[in-house]
This record gives sequence, C-alpha cells and structure tokens, in this order.
Amino acid sequence: MTKQDIRQQIEGYAEIQAEIEVLRKYAHDRRADRGTVDRVINLLHPKELKLTVSEIIEETASSKTFRLISADGYLPPFQAGQYINIFVNLAGIRSSRPYSIASSPSQTAYYDVTVRRVEDGFVSNYLLDEVTIGNSLTSTSPAGLFYYNPLFHGNNLVFLAGGSGITPFMSMIREVTDRGLDRNITLIYGSRDPDDMIFKDELEDRAQRHGNFTFIPVISEPPPSYSGHTGFITAELMQKLLDDVKDRMFYVCGPEEMYTFCLPELDKLGMPKKRVRQEVFGPPKDITMEAGWPSEVKKDDTFEVQIRGGKTIPARADEPLMISLERAGITIPTSCRSGECSLCRTKLLSGEVFQPRGVKVRKSDRQFGYIHACMAYPLKDLEIML
Ligand SMILES: Cc1cc2nc3c(=O)[nH]c(=O)nc-3n(C[C@H](O)[C@H](O)[C@H](O)COP(=O)(O)OP(=O)(O)OC[C@H]3O[C@@H](n4cnc5c(N)ncnc54)[C@H](O)[C@@H]3O)c2cc1C
Ligand code: FES
Repeated sequence: MTKQDIRQQIEGYAEIQAEIEVLRKYAHDRRADRGTVDRVINLLHPKELKLTVSEIIEETASSKTFRLISADGYLPPFQAGQYINIFVNLAGIRSSRPYSIASSPSQTAYYDVTVRRVEDGFVSNYLLDEVTIGNSLTSTSPAGLFYYNPLFHGNNLVFLAGGSGITPFMSMIREVTDRGLDRNITLIYGSRDPDDMIFKDELEDRAQRHGNFTFIPVISEPPPSYSGHTGFITAELMQKLLDDVKDRMFYVCGPEEMYTFCLPELDKLGMPKKRVRQEVFGPPKDITMEAGWPSEVKKDDTFEVQIRGGKTIPARADEPLMISLERAGITIPTSCRSGECSLCRTKLLSGEVFQPRGVKVRKSDRQFGYIHACMAYPLKDLEIML
C-alpha cells in the first residue's frame, strides 16, 4: 500500500503550497533574518534597565532630581510624558514605584526623574534620604500612554499640573522648546506655595524665551505679598486665562485630589472627554473616601487572601492588593501601579474587591473575573490565582 500524504486532504492545501512556491521564487527569504525582530524589540523595550545615579539635584525642600545613566551604556528612546517603574528592596520587601521622566527625549545620555517626598511614603523617602551618587537602581523601560499624539491632539495644548505632576509636562515642555516644535503650550501649575513649585525658575525662563510657551502659576496658600493667581484651578479661572477653550487639548496630571477637582471644572467648561487626557500619580490617599466605597468596610479591616496553589496572606482593606502581596514576599509583574497597563492582571476566584474609577480593566476581563491588583482593595476574604 502506498503511503498517503494526508495534508493533501486539508481544504486549501494546494493553494497554500502554490503560494509558498511563489514566495520562494520572488520574495525576500526571511529565514536569514530570524531573531532580528526580537533584537529590535529588546533594544527598544528591554525588560529591565540597569541604571546608575550620576547626579542629584536639589529642586525644592521636598524634592530632588535623580539623573540616571545606563550602567551598560544604552538607554532606550521614550516619548515625552512616559515613566519608568523603579524597583527597590526595602526592609526585606521588593516593591516599585513609577516616576515620569522629566528630561527631554532629545537628551539620550540620561533620564532625569524628580521625586517629591510623600509623608510616610515607603519609596519616596528612601530615594530622597538614602540614595546617593553612584548607587545602582533597576527599572522597567519607559512606558505609559500620557504623551502627545500629533494626529489627534492638535497644536494648542493646555497642561494642568499639580505638585509633582509637573514632571511629565517638564519633559514635553523641554522637548517642544528645545526642538522649536510647532506647538503652543499653556501650563497652569497649581501649588500650595511658590517655593514648593518644582522647576519654577526654569519654567519662567523658558516662558520668557519662547513665544509658544506660557507659564501660569496658581497658588492655593499664598504668602501675604503674593500678587499672582491664587486659589485652585477652577473653570472660571481657566475661562479667564484662555481666550478660547474650544480648540484646546487638556492634559491633567497630579495627585488624586487634583484630578477629582479639575475634571468636573473641565466639564463645566463643556470640554468633551476626548479632549481631556489624564494621568493620576498613584492610588488615592484614603480609598475609603472614594465614591462607591461600602461604608460597612472600615479602613483597618483585614481580610484573608488565599493564593491558589500557594499561601494565605493578610490584606488590609485600605491598601491595594499588590502591596499586601509584596509585604508577604510575593511580587507580580507591574509597571504603572495605577490601574492602566494591565501587567498586574490577577484572577479573582472568590470574594469581592473595590476598584476605584479610572481603573482600566477590559470588559472581557471584568466578565471573567480579572482585576488589577495594583488598584484593587479587598472588601471580603479572597481567593486569587496569580
Ligand atoms: C505614572 C506615574 C508617574 C509618577 N511620576 C512621579 C514623579 O515624577 N515624581 C513623583 O514624586 N511621584 C511620581 N509618581 C508617584 C510615585 O509613583 C509614588 O506613588 C510616590 O512617590 C509615593 O510613593 P511612596 O512609596 O513614597 O508612598 P506610598 O506608596 O503612598 O506609601 C504610603 C504608605 O504605604 C506603606 N507602604 C507602601 N508600600 C509598602 C510596601 N510595599 N510595604 C510596606 N509598606 C508599604 C508605607 O509605609 C506608607 O505608610 C508617579 C506615579 C505614577 C502612577
Ligand atoms: S501595574 Fe499597571 S495595571 Fe497594575
């Protein structure tokens, strides 16, 4: 009996064979390029960066800039507005925090990250008080979607910054002014007092030298002699400062409170959602104050989280599940730590979590019980699968 090639029986097999023959004859043979795509991807998006602190610049009483150079001689390119997630090993816990790159993407020798102290903050205090020149740090490669898109954003941009939320804007402002790009930027920068304003002198200087960049500080607790704009960034103030808001693209960045305050103000101006882009700098200070938080669950309630195939750990209601996992020595992939990138996607098998507004869980993920552990707060005992 002759051996039969059963592939001949597959529908469309002959056509595919014919196509392969044509490709062999006329197309570029890509077998020799094997690995090229991987090499390019690894060059642009390495999994981990080894960095050395080359300089530390005191910015304000509560913030410093860390100038980071590559320990192996290469930093991947980035878009102004992106961040790196810096890893730390502290008190036996491996954790990380994202920090926006404040330097311009046209500067390829280093990344500047500017860190502001957070009261009782786990990582910011470590970076500000312990890290010195010559120290090594590891981070993810640059990531994030908070950057300018020339196809959709037009060239009239308004940046609303609060506190350390100035950092991604600083990168964008430096890029536009250094490269002489055709974009108009108005920066409205909210700060408690003028001395607390990071990059104030440089912003004033750039605004003076570049007609397409306007800098407007707004001080909420001004000293008696202060003569500039005071209070908060309200719809009324924006209307007064900007002749026409219609053709503008708004970017909002800062702590949670700023975002909660400014978005309704932009609504009052009639700004459609598609003309407002936002980046929130980390989880809310007090999750129990968020709209929708169940009043019966108290801040210091502690639940049990059983990890399928692993151990059972305690988890406080007011801390993201990711922090409870890290405290227990379990690290899962992470990048944004703000609910956006999906890297910490975890399956919730039973129990209930609270995920604040703005956490970008895909509809299909919600349907199949996936949560973003960096922004999921336990409301009951849980069982999860990592
Ligand atoms: C995209 C993005 C970009 C950002 N860019 C900047 C920037 O340019 N500059 C800047 O200053 N900030 C930036 N942030 C905020 C930054 O990532 C941190 O949230 C901020 O520095 C506060 O971190 P922290 O660890 O000091 O404080 P927290 O995380 O708020 O710590 C608060 C409390 O939690 C406890 N805690 C937290 N984690 C642990 C743990 N693993 N184990 C034990 N205890 C813990 C601490 O003891 C403390 O009581 C950015 C955030 C995002 C999302
Ligand atoms: S780390 Fe990005 S969504 Fe959780």
